[in-house]
Amino acid sequence: MVRNLVGRLFRVLGEGQGRRARGRQGNSSLTTIGTEFRSSSHDAMMIRLETPRLTLMALTAQQMRWQRDDFTRLEQALGLAASGQRLEDELQPIVSRAISHIRRRPHHARWHCQWAAVLKDERRIIGSLAFKGPPDRDYAVEIGYGFDPFYHNRGLATEAVTEMVRWALSEEGVEAVIAETANMNVASMRVLQKVGFVITSATQRYLYWKVSG
Ligand SMILES: CC(C)(COP(=O)(O)OP(=O)(O)OC[C@H]1O[C@@H](n2cnc3c(N)ncnc32)[C@H](O)[C@@H]1OP(=O)(O)O)[C@@H](O)C(=O)NCCC(=O)NCCS
Repeated sequence: MVRNLVGRLFRVLGEGQGRRARGRQGNSSLTTIGTEFRSSSHDAMMIRLETPRLTLMALTAQQMRWQRDDFTRLEQALGLAASGQRLEDELQPIVSRAISHIRRRPHHARWHCQWAAVLKDERRIIGSLAFKGPPDRDYAVEIGYGFDPFYHNRGLATEAVTEMVRWALSEEGVEAVIAETANMNVASMRVLQKVGFVITSATQRYLYWKVSG
């Protein structure tokens, strides 16, 4: 069955891109949390984080090209089962933009790349997450995420976001993780609440959230 789950994610991740001012940047040193290794100069590094049910894989620029152009090739490269998923056409420019950011600033790859959430039991990508750029002037990084509806309401997004937040706050130069939700997006609001985010401001349509280290 073809599911455009990654596409749904990228629609979300596209929101707010560039909204935040860029300030002092995070470091580019290797973390000892998770498994991390350099793949090529432009891909910078690959990070894997583990939760009980998920592996969270930071995609390299090449893997993001496959995610955009050849999802099956991405799954092969990651050693996953072929699922028939594909990225929605309308969202390809967002991935292309992220790849271009990584090419220009490979030391910030971790803050621009897409992270695949792989369900260990099924060896399948069931969701994606991303930060929307390196730490801003307030030492905050913004997170976005989306999961396949078939797997909703099993606590999987909460599990993934909890680990991503923990990892981000362990990185030098990061003191907070922020997020924005449409104020009708009850499921996402609930995820953020469960992870420990609090609302910092609101507009008619959006809520702005933050969790500090
Ligand atoms: C937001 C999203 C990632 C949540 O994924 P998920 O794996 O279902 O999340 P979890 O299971 O960890 O938690 C969902 C929570 O929302 C609750 N929920 C879901 N729909 C709800 C609704 N209509 N009313 C009230 N609560 C709701 C669930 O009951 C659960 O809370 P609980 O554990 O207290 O019962 C998923 O809905 C999604 O991909 N949405 C589309 C993309 C998106 O909106 N991304 C976020 C943008 S900021």
